[in-house]
Amino acid sequence: MTDRYAVIGNPVAHSRSPQIHAMFARATGQDLVYERLWAPLDGFRAAVDRFRAEGGRGLNVTLPFKLEAHAYADAHTPRAEAAAAVNTLRFDAAGVLGDNTDGVGLVTDIEQRLGVDLRSARVLIAGAGGAARGVLAPLLAAGVSSVTIANRTAPRAHDLAAQSGDARVAGCGYQELDAQRFEIVVNATSIGLDGGAPPLSAPLLGAARLVYDMVYATQPTALMRAALAAGCASVSDGLGMLIEQAAESFLVWRGVRPPTAVVYRALRAALAAEAGPQAEPRG
Ligand code: ATR
Repeated sequence: MTDRYAVIGNPVAHSRSPQIHAMFARATGQDLVYERLWAPLDGFRAAVDRFRAEGGRGLNVTLPFKLEAHAYADAHTPRAEAAAAVNTLRFDAAGVLGDNTDGVGLVTDIEQRLGVDLRSARVLIAGAGGAARGVLAPLLAAGVSSVTIANRTAPRAHDLAAQSGDARVAGCGYQELDAQRFEIVVNATSIGLDGGAPPLSAPLLGAARLVYDMVYATQPTALMRAALAAGCASVSDGLGMLIEQAAESFLVWRGVRPPTAVVYRALRAALAAEAGPQAEPRG
């Protein structure tokens, strides 16, 4: 029988994950189907129970259910514990495993597709919500020299820094960035979804080796445009991260890591062919 997987979310119609996993399955010769699963805001647990009862083998979890997915799992990988959120559920005889592949997706995309060395890099993360939390531990594990978390609500940034328990991490408000400079700037806010950008100065953006926006879009996001205008040589949206986190989930489920470069090229071409400046959410 063909194994069933899905991405569960609300909304979920925008998700590219079915396309991505269909390409992975073809490339690796794995027999599986991957669907979209919409759940009501108060119906995550019931929807997952039903999917499992029907024989489902695993789920990707997108907004707003990543915390509920963490609570649903019987066991967690260390990276899911660090993120306090789950984007991948695996169902088997041992029970429900919760994992989080978002952070490793970002690190893999930066290091492998973009060829930027994270070791000893000074990193700025804009935003202190779930997306920032999810990428913090994998960035630290990649050997960065420091992570500064800047947030509109500065206490959230301070809290996230303190919770990391790592002396390399500091939190602040945007106005405190002053004359600081960073090799890598990552936008983990949700502002880009509305066409905006976090308030980072042109000198700060221009000095960065890479400005990375975790949302993806048919066209460069507002932050990418601002960074290019400021003289930054390398900007990226989050399409590669989306594909790399999917590849890591595929590995968790199937024990084989699919090739990603060809999928990136196909999705980038598909996005370019679509009209509209709207940025799309992560996941
Ligand atoms: P997610 O799980 O996607 O990270 P979240 O936890 O709601 O979602 O966090 C959204 C992030 O975007 C936060 O860092 C938020 O800043 P606050 O903590 O100050 O709310 C940030 N954000 C959203 N809209 C913003 C805006 N207009 N200006 C600045 N920051 C914004």
